[in-house]
Amino acid sequence: MRQRNPDKTDKTDEFRILCTATLSQCNNCKVSTPAEYLITMADTEKENIINDVISYLPEDERPDMTQLKNYFYTGLLNPKITYWNGFRFLPRFNAETAKFAYEMTYKNSDVIVAAFPKAGSTWIRTIVQHLAYNSDPKQMEISSKLNTPFSYLETGIPIKFEVVNKLPLSRRIFATHLDAQLVNLKKIKECGAKVIYCIRNPKDQAVSWYHMYQNIRYIDHPNFKEFCPKTWDEFFNMYTSGKQPLFTRDGEWYPDHVMSWYQHRDDVMFVVYEEMKRNPVKQILRIAEFLNIPATLERAEEIASMTSFSKMSVELKDRAPVGNFYRKGEVGDWKNYFSDEQSKIMDELIQEKLGNTEIKFIYE
Ligand code: A3P
Repeated sequence: MRQRNPDKTDKTDEFRILCTATLSQCNNCKVSTPAEYLITMADTEKENIINDVISYLPEDERPDMTQLKNYFYTGLLNPKITYWNGFRFLPRFNAETAKFAYEMTYKNSDVIVAAFPKAGSTWIRTIVQHLAYNSDPKQMEISSKLNTPFSYLETGIPIKFEVVNKLPLSRRIFATHLDAQLVNLKKIKECGAKVIYCIRNPKDQAVSWYHMYQNIRYIDHPNFKEFCPKTWDEFFNMYTSGKQPLFTRDGEWYPDHVMSWYQHRDDVMFVVYEEMKRNPVKQILRIAEFLNIPATLERAEEIASMTSFSKMSVELKDRAPVGNFYRKGEVGDWKNYFSDEQSKIMDELIQEKLGNTEIKFIYE
């Protein structure tokens, strides 16, 4: 095992006991306690992500990364729900960074891929990378390493924007899970940056999120445990009653997030997961046009093949935020989880929240 930083070690018995399930997620990890497991993971993430990304900058232009390194420890060892502007956020969210992103100036070449978690935004972001970087191997390599702390507007610490600015990338591609109210869309529009919002039917989105939850490393941490029911039925009730602190306000969930972005549909491009599944080439051409990137049919076919579920689930597996991230990538898997009653409840809730919009979700 690698040396760990003793200052950041949380050794309380309570923490060790409550992390048991976390340790069980990591049977192959050669550590003796859950706390050590988390420290090892924090170390590994920190080293891998920061060192990889910073290595693309000339040595004399590398900012001090101490604070960003500490961010990894606090995120994993002391995961907290944050409340900001009435919204509730998962660990890794940083209000200072979200505020910085709200106030910063964007470039007209910037692209922001926004989505509620599990709507397929990693897929769309990878397509945007291929389009924007013309699949240039070096830029693809760098951008594939810009995971959560670097790419999301609301995570990491503000100095990460300085790093991203200096990277040898022809365009900056950001991601966000923020509600539209918390993103400065007026300023982004004025700067000429492009925004894409991804949507997916709420039943498959919920199943995907349920599975991701079970893989989150801090799932059994005392600060978090109450939000992580283990059974599907409990999860369904908690999620659809807006009790999960998931980038929304109390009582809100996925459709409220969609509604916030829907109000900006004239300026934001909506990409639908199920339409991507049905005809990825058509959607890739649409995205290319929106980003003013020339693309032939042949090129779109090439990108569709490079970003297929089977390719991404193998090639990008090691960069995924949790194990089993590329789970099924299907439309209609919800039928294996929802009871008839749950399906009816979900239909009614969606009708109530989004019935007056032009959004008609595709469920199979
Ligand atoms: P499942 O859990 O249903 O498999 P996000 O990136 O917004 O977190 O969304 C993750 C979901 O998108 C997961 O859904 C994941 O498998 C799916 N996904 C990722 N890449 C995909 C691809 N290339 N094609 C289809 N689905 C993909």
